[in-house]
Amino acid sequence: MFPTASLTTLLLLALSVAANPIVIRDSFIKVPFAKKLNVTGSFDLIQKDQARARALKAHGAAKASGLAAAATSIGVTNVAQVYVASVGVGSPATDYSLLIDTGSSNTWVGAGKKYVKTSTSKQTSNRVSVTYGSGSFSGTEFTDTVSLGNGLTVTGQSIGVASTSEGFDGFDGILGIGPDALTVGTLSPSTQSTIPTVTDNLASQGVIPSDLVAVSFEPTTSESDANGELTFGGTDSSKFTGSISFTSITGTSPANEFWGINESIKYGSTTILSTTAGIVDTGTTLILIATNAFKKYESATGATLDNETGLLKISTANFNKLSNLVFTVGSNSFTLTPNAQIWPRSLNTAIGGNANSIYLVVNDIGSNSGEGLDFINGFTFLERFYSVFDTTNNRVGFATTPFTTATTN
Ligand SMILES: *[C@@H]1O[C@H](CO)[C@@H](O)[C@H](O)[C@H]1NC(C)=O
Ligand SMILES: *[C@@H]1O[C@H](CO)[C@@H](O)[C@H](O)[C@H]1NC(C)=O
Ligand SMILES: *[C@@H]1O[C@H](CO)[C@@H](O)[C@H](O)[C@H]1NC(C)=O
Repeated sequence: MFPTASLTTLLLLALSVAANPIVIRDSFIKVPFAKKLNVTGSFDLIQKDQARARALKAHGAAKASGLAAAATSIGVTNVAQVYVASVGVGSPATDYSLLIDTGSSNTWVGAGKKYVKTSTSKQTSNRVSVTYGSGSFSGTEFTDTVSLGNGLTVTGQSIGVASTSEGFDGFDGILGIGPDALTVGTLSPSTQSTIPTVTDNLASQGVIPSDLVAVSFEPTTSESDANGELTFGGTDSSKFTGSISFTSITGTSPANEFWGINESIKYGSTTILSTTAGIVDTGTTLILIATNAFKKYESATGATLDNETGLLKISTANFNKLSNLVFTVGSNSFTLTPNAQIWPRSLNTAIGGNANSIYLVVNDIGSNSGEGLDFINGFTFLERFYSVFDTTNNRVGFATTPFTTATTN
C-alpha cells in the first residue's frame, strides 16, 4: 500500500498527463442516444413545437433585458420528440435516462430514479431550480462524477438533485448542452454564476481536446429509434461526408442566447426568408420559420394547412413538382430535397394524420420575421445534416451525411 500522500501525488501526476492534449487516449467521447416520438392527438406536434418556440424566444428576450433566466421558461418536456441518453453519475455510477437538450444548460437528475449518493457526491450550499415550458424542477446542487460513453468521466460536475419536479414522466432528468449563459439565475443564493456544462468541464479537465459537442442522427421512420450519437470533444468522420462548414454564433438577440446563427432560405430560386437570425435546436421537431416566410413557402409549394395535424398537406401531383429548399449559412448552402421536406409517411398516423397523405415538415414559428429569432432548424433538419456545437470557437457547423438525400420518407 502507498501512503495516502504518495497516492495523491501519483493521481496528480496522472491528471497532469491527462491534461496534455497530446496523450489523450480517446480524442472524443461517443454517447449513443435514442429518439422517442410522443404525440397525443391532433395538432399536438405543431402545438408543442410552437409552444417551445415561444418559450425560447421569451427566455432569450428576458435574458437580454437582464431578467433572471429562472423567471422565464424553456420548453423541453412537452416536446413531440425526445432524445434520451444514458448517463452515469457517482462512483460507482448509477445510470440515469436523461433528455438531451441544446436549448437549456442545467444537468439534473431525480425526476424518476432517485439520486444515489456515493463517496464522490458533494452537496454545495446552493439551491437550484429551472422552469421549463411545461415542467419544472427544484432541489439542491451537488457536484459529482459523471460518466459518458467509453467509460470516460468528468469530476466535480454540478448536478441538480430534484426534490420536486413535474412534467418528466418516464425520464430521470436533463443533460443540458446549451451555452452556459443559460444557467444564470438558476442557482440561489449565487444567482449571477454560470454553471459549466458537462461539455465545458470535460474540456477544462482535459478529458476532451475541445469544448464542443456534435450530433448525428439518421432520418428515422419509426416511433422509437436508437441510431443517434453525441460526440463530445470532436467530430466522428464516419457520420458525415465532405467537410464541416462553420458559422459564428449570431450577434442578434435573442437568438444569440442559444445556438443561434444567421441564415437565409430559398425555395427553388425564390427567397422565402432573407438573411436573419434563428437557432439550431434538438428539442424542436419541425423546421419553424417566420409567418411571412411560411406563407411564401405555402403558396410556392401549393400545399394547404391540414386541419387535422396542423401541418401543411400536399397533393401527390404537387409533391412530384416540389423544388429543393436551400438553407444558406455564410457562404455555404444546405439543401433539403423534396423527400427531406416531408414527414415520414410511416409516421402519419402517429401524429393524427392520414396514412395516405403527404405532410411537410416546414411550419410557422408563430410571428413575422424581424424578432431576432426567425427560424428554428429543428430535428427534421438535423436528421439530414451532421451538426457541431463549438463553444471553444463560438460557432456552429453543419456537414452533409450519407442520409442527406435519402428517400426514406
Ligand atoms: C407523452 O406525453 C404525455 C404528455 O403530453 C405524458 O403525460 C406522457 O408521460 C408521455 N409519455 C412518454 C412515454 O414520454
Ligand atoms: C448576423 O446578422 C447580423 C444582423 O444583420 C449582423 O450584425 C451580424 O454581423 C451577422 N453575423 C454574425 C456572426 O452575427
Ligand atoms: C376539416 O376540414 C374538413 C374539410 O374542409 C371538414 O369537413 C372538417 O369538418 C374539418 N375538421 C375540423 C376538425 O375542423
